[in-house]
Amino acid sequence: MATATVPVVYTLAEGRPVQDPTTQTVLRGTPLQGAGLALLADTQLIETLAHFPRERIPDRVVHAKAAGAWGEFEVTHDVTSITSANFLSKVGKKTKVLMRISTVAGDKGSSDTVRDVRGWAMKFFTDEGNYDIVGNDIPVFFIRDPIKFPSLNRSHQKHPQTNVPDSTMFWDFHNNNPEGTHCLMHLFGQRGVPASLRHINGYGVHTFKFGKPEDGTFRYVKIHFKPDAGITTLDATEAVRLAGEEPDYHVKDLYNAIEKGDYPTWTMYIQVMDPKDAETYRWNIFDATKIWPHEDYPLQPVGKLTLNKNPENYFADVEQAAFSPSTMVPGIGPSADIMLQARMFSYPDAARYRVGPNYQQLPCNRAKYVYSPFQRNGPATINGNYGSDPFYVRSSFKSMKTTGPTHVAHDEWVNAKVEVYTSGAEEEDFEQARDLWDIFLKQGVDQIFVDNVAGHMKSALPGVQTRAIEIFAKVRPEIGERIENKLKGLNGEPDHVRGPYGLQVAMGGGY
Ligand code: HEM
Repeated sequence: MATATVPVVYTLAEGRPVQDPTTQTVLRGTPLQGAGLALLADTQLIETLAHFPRERIPDRVVHAKAAGAWGEFEVTHDVTSITSANFLSKVGKKTKVLMRISTVAGDKGSSDTVRDVRGWAMKFFTDEGNYDIVGNDIPVFFIRDPIKFPSLNRSHQKHPQTNVPDSTMFWDFHNNNPEGTHCLMHLFGQRGVPASLRHINGYGVHTFKFGKPEDGTFRYVKIHFKPDAGITTLDATEAVRLAGEEPDYHVKDLYNAIEKGDYPTWTMYIQVMDPKDAETYRWNIFDATKIWPHEDYPLQPVGKLTLNKNPENYFADVEQAAFSPSTMVPGIGPSADIMLQARMFSYPDAARYRVGPNYQQLPCNRAKYVYSPFQRNGPATINGNYGSDPFYVRSSFKSMKTTGPTHVAHDEWVNAKVEVYTSGAEEEDFEQARDLWDIFLKQGVDQIFVDNVAGHMKSALPGVQTRAIEIFAKVRPEIGERIENKLKGLNGEPDHVRGPYGLQVAMGGGY
């Protein structure tokens, strides 16, 4: 039943009150419905039609489909010995948060229950500026060289000729960039399709620095969020059914849970490493394809995240939101991971294009306190533009309070290491994948993994299948054999019968 509301005066965008929106026409003789001449002077008609095709802004080039919500973060454990970040300064301190959880490869209208990584983007509105964690629900990533990022994503998206996702293209990319095998095993494991966004993990993935600018100390940190209600997943058949029948299944689930007051919560943990240990640790801690096993660096609780408010308006609150790994606060800094550093460029760059150069002024992105008078003018300036304040540095008319450094460098050793580790895949790239396989075996979910991979790979060209089988055999020979056997029983028509480039893929070479 419609709720009765007090009538309001509708206006044009410039405020002129309007009657019922109908088109004005010039008629001769008997009035006819829908006939006559439309008027250039009918501002209401012109304004209405002209605004409509301008309703869209560019979709995010990745992570276009998402759910969003507002929430709150509360510190539950003292971490002041590790960082002086103000929002973590006291047990009980609460900070407003904006959250966006996305799929990666699909378009904005794509289905939720697909096998894909889930993006985990959060913005903390702290007293010392915004802090963004732009992570994923999988603890590792597919690549460690940022120049591969566009290629990785294109191979997961639509083929340039057929405009459909293409299994050959997908596996061909991974076959030739096998440093992502560990990440692929997470994706094709049981957790590859969540049952609900309320029941997924969130990971910062990269190594960050948490430190104390005042005394120059810092530690390396990995960030984890774990759902207090546990992880739940969908089996492949149910996921496919929902993808067809309920394409917005996850978005709806999160919205309705919050609307009903059933607020999802997560515990934030960190793993903390002394910089000295990093130099001798067996894994390169700046390589985003690697975890730090919990036995080596246990999870330490930090606080609790609660999502408790739906967006008032999806476009205003979520579509225009812009998250970036470069959005950091004093006490938290980047590490020598070159992926992280490349991302620090890429996200604000994308936001300037997607939302506009003044995107930080919009309510969904605006920090609590901003005084940045060296950035002036530009399209849609809505912050008053700092009036007559000086717009040049070192003005005598507005003095600046200075702040100290925000983190300590640890770079000499780092430069040499990073160079070595950005090359091709090594034997050690399969070790953690092997450990994950052993976990699958112990948990009895190994067949699920084999079925998922074979189910996806069945539509790839045979040569690409063979290469992928060889790579999984490097994890354990039995994985390769089992995938190969499973494929024999499946009939798959290639997504693109001539191969992605109209050629059979050249075999050989590799890493
Ligand atoms: C979105 C670039 C790696 C998580 C995006 C966007 C770009 C991008 C351009 C769209 C941003 C926008 O339009 O607002 C890159 C590059 C990467 C990289 C260049 C590597 C060099 C990663 C990694 C993670 C990640 C490793 C996870 C740890 C996300 C998330 C979003 C996103 C969660 C969606 C943000 C939102 O909700 O607005 N990425 N990305 N990306 N990326 Fe990355």
